[in-house]
Amino acid sequence: MGQGTPGGLNRGGLPNDRKNDDKKEKKFEPAAPPARVGRKQRKQKGSEAAARLPTVTPLTKCKLRLLKLERIKDYLLMEEEFVANQERLKPQEEKTEEDRSKVDDLRGSPMSVGNLEELIDENHAIVSSSVGPEYYVGILSFVDKDQLEPGCAILMHNKVLSVVGLLQDDVDPMVSVMKVEKAPLESYADIGGLDAQIQEIKEAVELPLTHPELYEDIGIKPPKGVILYGEPGTGKTLLAKAVANSTSATFLRVVGSELIQKYLGDGPKLVRELFRVADDLSPSIVFIDEIDAVGTKRYDAHSGGEREIQRTMLELLNQLDGFDSRGDVKVILATNKIESLDPALLRPGRIDRKIEFPLPDIKTRRRIFQIHTSRMTLADDVNLEEFVMTKDEFSGADIKAICTEAGLLALRERRMKVMHADFKKAKDKVMFKKKEGVPEGLYM
Ligand SMILES: Nc1ncnc2c1ncn2[C@@H]1O[C@H](COP(=O)(O)OP(=O)(O)OP(=O)(O)O)[C@@H](O)[C@H]1O
Ligand SMILES: [Mg+2]
Repeated sequence: MGQGTPGGLNRGGLPNDRKNDDKKEKKFEPAAPPARVGRKQRKQKGSEAAARLPTVTPLTKCKLRLLKLERIKDYLLMEEEFVANQERLKPQEEKTEEDRSKVDDLRGSPMSVGNLEELIDENHAIVSSSVGPEYYVGILSFVDKDQLEPGCAILMHNKVLSVVGLLQDDVDPMVSVMKVEKAPLESYADIGGLDAQIQEIKEAVELPLTHPELYEDIGIKPPKGVILYGEPGTGKTLLAKAVANSTSATFLRVVGSELIQKYLGDGPKLVRELFRVADDLSPSIVFIDEIDAVGTKRYDAHSGGEREIQRTMLELLNQLDGFDSRGDVKVILATNKIESLDPALLRPGRIDRKIEFPLPDIKTRRRIFQIHTSRMTLADDVNLEEFVMTKDEFSGADIKAICTEAGLLALRERRMKVMHADFKKAKDKVMFKKKEGVPEGLYM
């Protein structure tokens, strides 16, 4: 195309240039009148130039270029298709977005959470929220009615209180926290003595879950659970941890005080929920530590709080009685105040297996000392027998405290080894504190 332009560019240029141009033009097109300059000429030239084929040399290079251009074309085609699709799909998304925002408007925000008490007909229901009266309200059309059932958690409009949604996950978050996901580190090997207790808990709790046929053969119902009782620090919680560590069943742990709830009816509901989850995940073991928080004797309760605690315990009794049979759920309770528990809780048929945890005897003490000193670096002069044989009453927790205290004393003097004197001092300190009544939890 270079041939077409000079005529235009040189209009009004030097005559020399024009001459040169004309010469060139003559070379290619001898028929063109040399004197004519202007639009017409240019046009003629341009069209003629376009009609002419360019000289194509060398061939291989052109082929490559062709291939390259073809690839670019393919790519552009793809791109075009992609963009077209993008545009075709876009309105769909926008439409759903619009619909969603409309639904959100209808739902209103914030939404209040309530309980479905009763379904009246297709479009109406009676609902209640945690505080306040019950309401007769409508159910909006977009709520999935198949999933609505009395007792489930629902979302309500904040002003007109109509049912606008359903809370899918109705497991109480409190209960899901109770599930022991990570097995505790303590195992049976970490327990000194208590062989009879370990045997008994295995028979009463683990065996019915792993080998129910044994009990069927003999024709008895396995016990529903056990209660561990004894002085503080004798290893009740420790044994439960070891069970959790070794069992393949689901292990749910609660502390009695957690079952005491603020609102009316929440405590019993939590107990019900706990046993329902245990049933869902069965075979399972429910461990309720410090049961005395809810299980004290029934008496005339005066304050609302006390009555709520009682209701919680009654629900617990009800669950243990099991109107719905709970074959695969075993219960372990633990307390250090068994005498204050309601006898109904411990009557035959409920938790009738009582496992006592005595203070360790001499043999057990030796074993517990071994367990807790096994990872300590001891000097040669340490003679643990002196403490094993002593007449003072030690619990397992005391022994652990003595070992920890001795280690701390050695650390204070920057010694790498724990000496006999450390143990002596530690023992005096622990015994002294015990008499003073300092909580032992300090050394847990
Ligand atoms: N038989 C034992 N063998 C080894 N360690 C023990 C034994 N008994 C108690 N201990 C130690 O004492 C600590 C406290 O024991 P644990 O928590 O089981 O007491 P508890 O019986 O549950 O007391 P509480 O009634 O106060 O809850 C344990 O962490 C453990 O290290
Ligand atoms: Mg305990």
